[in-house]
Amino acid sequence: MSDAATTNIERVVVIGAGAMGTGIAQVFAAAGKRVTLVDVRPEGLEAAIASLSSVLSRQVTKGKMTAESVEALLGRITTSTDLSEAANSADFAIEAVFERLDIKLDLIAQLDRALSVEAIIASNTSSLSITRLAAASTNPERVIGMHFFNPAPLMPLVEVVRGLQTSDRTAEVVTALAKAIGKTPIPVNDAPGFAGNRILLPMINEAIFALSEGVADRNAIDQVMKLGMGHPMGPLQLADLIGLDVCLDILEVLHRDFGDDRYRPAPLLRQMVSAGWLGKKRGRGFYHYDAGDLPVE
Ligand code: CAA
Repeated sequence: MSDAATTNIERVVVIGAGAMGTGIAQVFAAAGKRVTLVDVRPEGLEAAIASLSSVLSRQVTKGKMTAESVEALLGRITTSTDLSEAANSADFAIEAVFERLDIKLDLIAQLDRALSVEAIIASNTSSLSITRLAAASTNPERVIGMHFFNPAPLMPLVEVVRGLQTSDRTAEVVTALAKAIGKTPIPVNDAPGFAGNRILLPMINEAIFALSEGVADRNAIDQVMKLGMGHPMGPLQLADLIGLDVCLDILEVLHRDFGDDRYRPAPLLRQMVSAGWLGKKRGRGFYHYDAGDLPVE
């Protein structure tokens, strides 16, 4: 199938107004697609649009976008709390809600009822089985993993994950769509954590074990990985960016689905999640944050 096939995809529904859903909505709108961002919480939608407006206005200040192009981009994004209505006229839906299997299964079943039969259903799940998610659809051939990386507008990678039932057409359309929105699609098989998180999360977990065992302090661990390994940010700062709750969810999936204790989440990670110290989004994780992106302490 040629990339032209994706020109049929003009109306996109993004479900979940968290950091990933908002970033994904931005990426599609920047590529000229009409996007409906859906969330059950109206205040979540308001916060998403406010954060998007502020990120984009910084782009104007820096001279990277014009005020007109920002206005046009934002004009292509509408919000809704009504999934059925939003999905009704969409060609493509991608869910980026909490990493809970029951919630995602329910959502895929709802999308299955609301979308037209040709529309594709993608999941941005970071570790759950696409084969299992696809089974919630009466037409599982149209279900696929399209896994973006945080921050979605900046990271070029999209893991394209086929479930057992995913059709060639669905995989081809999503691969072409990823290219059309400026991303690099990489095909990955349906295994826990796929490739990216299977490799990344054990590293982050090990950094947390090293911290709690007193091998080195927080700054030292992050500096070691930045200066010695050339990582753009250290693993503890990256954990804060991803969200410590998300890191724990992924490690629990790896631990459970592989049945291997090498993936057991560090107790300190569990404690921090229990404390509500979820990272940058809550102002506190391994670091403290104010309104900006960078740690203040
Ligand atoms: N839209 C458009 N542009 C944006 C933007 C947005 N939403 N946010 C920031 N930018 C622009 C900034 O304006 C900036 O532009 P200039 O260079 O012209 O100033 C540019 O992007 C870079 O922004 P920063 O100055 O904040 O960038 P940085 O150099 O400090 O890099 C980073 C930030 C890209 C996050 C970098 O530190 C990095 O790559 N970190 C690692 C991120 C990573 O590993 N992500 C994957 C996490 S794993 C995951 O996501 C999978 C999962 O399922 C959990």
